[in-house]
Order: sequence, then C-alpha cells, then structure tokens
Amino acid sequence: MMKKYLLVGLALALVACGEKTETAATGNASTATAEATSAAGGKVIDLVTTQDGSPLKIDVAMFDTPAAKEFLATGKNPYIGQEAAIAEGKKKFNLYSCVACHGGKGEGAVAPGLQGPNFKYAKNATNKGMFETIWHGTNGGMGAKGFGLMQANPPDGLKPDEVLKVQAWIRSNSTVTGNE
Ligand code: HEC
Repeated sequence: MMKKYLLVGLALALVACGEKTETAATGNASTATAEATSAAGGKVIDLVTTQDGSPLKIDVAMFDTPAAKEFLATGKNPYIGQEAAIAEGKKKFNLYSCVACHGGKGEGAVAPGLQGPNFKYAKNATNKGMFETIWHGTNGGMGAKGFGLMQANPPDGLKPDEVLKVQAWIRSNSTVTGNE
C-alpha cells in the first residue's frame, strides 16, 4: 500500500516537473495512477526453467505481495535477512518436505546441500536461479514445487511469495545471499 502511494506521488511529481503540456496542466490523479501502475508493473524479469532454459510462464497475478512483485521486477529477493520471513520460510521448508531430502538446515542429506557457495546448478547461487529451480524442478530428481505444479488437482505447492520465504531460510544458513 505504502509503496503504491509513493509511486503515485512520484508520478505526480514527474508530471509536475514535466513540460508544460496540456496533459500536465489538465492531468488528474487517476491518469497519474494509471501511469504509475503501468510503470511499476511493466518491467518483468524473464524466468526460465532449470531443465532446459526454456521460458517459464507463471501468471503474474500469483505475484500478489509487495515482495513478490519486487522479485518479478528485479530478480532480487527482498526477504533475505528478514527475521519474520525467514521464520515462515523455515516452516514451509519443513511442511513441503525439503527437510527430508536436503537436511534441517539445507546442509545436504539424500539430496545435495543448499548452502553453497557451489551448487550442482551454478545458477542456484542467484535468487532468480534458485526460484526457477524450486518452482519448476530439475531433470535429476527434484520435483516442481510451484503452486499447481507440485500437485495439479486440487492445486498445491508454494506460491511465489512462499518460495521467496523458503529461499530466505535457505540463504540464512548459507554463505551467499543470492542478491549479490
Ligand atoms: C524427494 C526429495 C526432495 C525433496 C522433497 C526436495 N528436493 Fe530439492 N532436490 C532433490 C534432488 C535429488 C536434487 C538434485 C537434483 C538434480 O541433480 O537434478 C535437488 C535439488 C535442489 C536444488 C538445486 C541444488 C543445487 O545444488 O543446484 C534446490 C535449490 C532444491 N532442491 C530446493 C528444494 C526445496 C526448497 C525443497 C522444498 C520445497 C526441495 N528441494 C524438496 C530432492 C528433493
């Protein structure tokens, strides 16, 4: 909410500073809001699968929190280092059985460790890359955990915001933040 107001304020300021066009002179708040929304929602990172690098399509409507929207625009995970998000991520890490294969702190068990700095798939050193791996899985035994992919009917799995929180937990035990 706060962010939206800030963006609207910024758009208004930009309009105010712009040339003395008729639009600026007669511009009203709803026009500015529409501009701010398209400006904020316009840039979206290209997500790709870990299996073969093909485009990974996820409905943008699922990115329904400020953190998820920021990730979609920048590829950075704003939950890294945030205690509350890390605690929630830890719960999901256990609930979705990551713990069973990767160990309680992602130190590795029957599946590879998640602490880095070296990963089986090098891209998992970045939060964008690890998001893609968790969402869509790999060819070598890591199932897709994204909502609707882990289980289609009824849909189950991690929402984008939850993936980011799980990632914040993983990185809290790691030497890399993934936002480097
Ligand atoms: C049934 C066991 C199993 C579960 C449950 C599981 N994984 Fe995995 N995971 C694997 C295996 C096996 C691999 C290695 C895949 C490969 O080699 O392609 C892997 C790989 C990964 C990687 C890539 C590691 C690297 O070095 O590149 C990440 C990240 C990951 N898993 C995260 C998770 C998360 C988060 C969860 C829970 C939401 C989870 N996994 C649940 C078995 C599992």
